[in-house]
Amino acid sequence: MTPATAPPALPGWRHLYSGKVRDLYVDESDDSRVLVVASDRISAYDHVLATPIPDKGSILTALTLWWLERLDVPNHLLSTDVPAAVAGRAMVCRRLEMVPVECVARGYLTGSGLADYRATGAVCGVELPPGLDDGSRLEAPIFTPATKAALGEHDENVTFAVVASQVGAELAERLRRLTLDVYATAEALARDRGVIVADTKLEFGFDPDGVLTLGDEVLTPDSSRFWPADQWRPGRAQPSFDKQYVRDWLTSPASGWDRASDVPPPPLPDDVVERTRARYVEAYERITGRRWR
Ligand SMILES: Nc1ncnc2c1ncn2[C@@H]1O[C@H](COP(=O)(O)OP(=O)(O)O)[C@@H](O)[C@H]1O
Ligand SMILES: [Mg+2]
Repeated sequence: MTPATAPPALPGWRHLYSGKVRDLYVDESDDSRVLVVASDRISAYDHVLATPIPDKGSILTALTLWWLERLDVPNHLLSTDVPAAVAGRAMVCRRLEMVPVECVARGYLTGSGLADYRATGAVCGVELPPGLDDGSRLEAPIFTPATKAALGEHDENVTFAVVASQVGAELAERLRRLTLDVYATAEALARDRGVIVADTKLEFGFDPDGVLTLGDEVLTPDSSRFWPADQWRPGRAQPSFDKQYVRDWLTSPASGWDRASDVPPPPLPDDVVERTRARYVEAYERITGRRWR
């Protein structure tokens, strides 16, 4: 982690955990409250990159808050009154006992879903009709869970039956229902604004009263694939509001980086940083209809 993106010391809050992007703190006087801080770190190909993307943490937080106001499910947000050092990029939240399942809904086929479909005709055990292509719209959105990998490892797609065996059939069913409900609401809202939510990943947990609660970030470019609807054309990779420039540059000869090696990726050039920031800003502005500062 570069010094610019290391978790800051915050009076009254004890640092608990740092993931790829977020730093988690617990309230020193009330351990049922956590502070979820989104940094400007960016990850690609399971590496946290050395170069931060300015404003990324604030954009992810603002988008999450925007969605939480519009979704009709219990969520972890308590307050946005946070320490000045992390203003705009942190949320005070109910501390959840996270369910160790990445709850993914897909309305369109791409990425690991497409790879599974091409290999087996199904995604996470959900059979799909033949003839689908990269970017195809699915007849109905599907729940395609994954198990959460340790830092630096790949999440693994699993079947509903595997989730049921891990957390119980009843909870698995509730996760599927909630995930598909959130996706349906979000897909419709974004579509009105010309943005396709191709897929999204949610995380749920139990609050201290045992209520199954939506946690983490929600419907951001890091957790979702957002595509400009007017450019959607199945049969190729779709333009998207995310780290596309970063991935493209890292895998181009210009970076000199070998994805298959264990060597960490090189720092990003300024133009890749600027264009990536602009993509995050554009996602925020298109979806919310608000100007970014
Ligand atoms: N309300 C909450 N209570 C406890 N843990 C949470 C809560 N919301 C999110 N988390 C956890 O905080 C972490 C967020 O950090 P992130 O950088 O996204 O991690 P990762 O690299 O594991 O995805 C995740 O492990 C997520 O499960
Ligand atoms: Mg995460």
